[in-house]
Amino acid sequence: MTNKLKYFIGNWKMFGDFSSLKIIYQIHRFCVRFKRRHKKNKIILCVPTTLIYYFNTKLKSKFISIGAQNCHSHKTYGPFTGSVSASMLKNAGAKYVILGHSENRAEGDTNQLIKKKIESALNQKLNIIFCIGETFKEKRDGKTLLILKNQMRGSVSKKYDLKKIIIAYEPVWSIGTGKIPKIQELKKTFKYIKSEFKKNFRTTTFPTVLYGGSVNVNNISIFSSISEIDGFLVGEASQSSEKFIDIIKNYYK
Ligand code: 13P
Repeated sequence: MTNKLKYFIGNWKMFGDFSSLKIIYQIHRFCVRFKRRHKKNKIILCVPTTLIYYFNTKLKSKFISIGAQNCHSHKTYGPFTGSVSASMLKNAGAKYVILGHSENRAEGDTNQLIKKKIESALNQKLNIIFCIGETFKEKRDGKTLLILKNQMRGSVSKKYDLKKIIIAYEPVWSIGTGKIPKIQELKKTFKYIKSEFKKNFRTTTFPTVLYGGSVNVNNISIFSSISEIDGFLVGEASQSSEKFIDIIKNYYK
């Protein structure tokens, strides 16, 4: 059920400017120093749209890919003030895009709209980091697995290039709170996501599934004991090269 490659993905959210290039350089230098180990790591930094092109032209790293954090559902250009399409992200050099993040769901992204965004992004051959996760109330009401199933079925289709979709399980109540699920809960949830995805979309292999929500240097060793977790989507701790590098180091301790 596990996929060998380990993903360490940073979601910078609304953080960073041109001077933040130094954060990426430091992570790159760390990867160069530990080259052998990093063959099995995939490092992706999803940065604000304003920085994608700049980072891509400045950074020539075989260890780090640059991604975006959201896109509009419309395929190319259109009268959508303030929005950016998947084709524009691709043109700026993004290889990945986060879709379905709970912070965007809270602002109105429905499963249906996320599905359209996924379609547009796949059309541009972008890789998708598709976020799913339950709220605290849904967890308390015992609805976690049902919510995850509905989110997957509501936004993904069998017809898609499913190899390009990475799932990020991010319990909404865990994001930015310092709280994380119990080990047993994580094992159960990851097994469920993987088998439900494989069964429902009739894939031959299990999907790549990441964990996100308050991942930091102190709790990463808890996650490393769970083989079903294929990597991490890190928020706050990815905005500092030291914290992000320490997460990777401690994962392997
Ligand atoms: P934190 O790591 O800050 O809790 O954020 C997680 C997240 O939202 C990543 O997408």
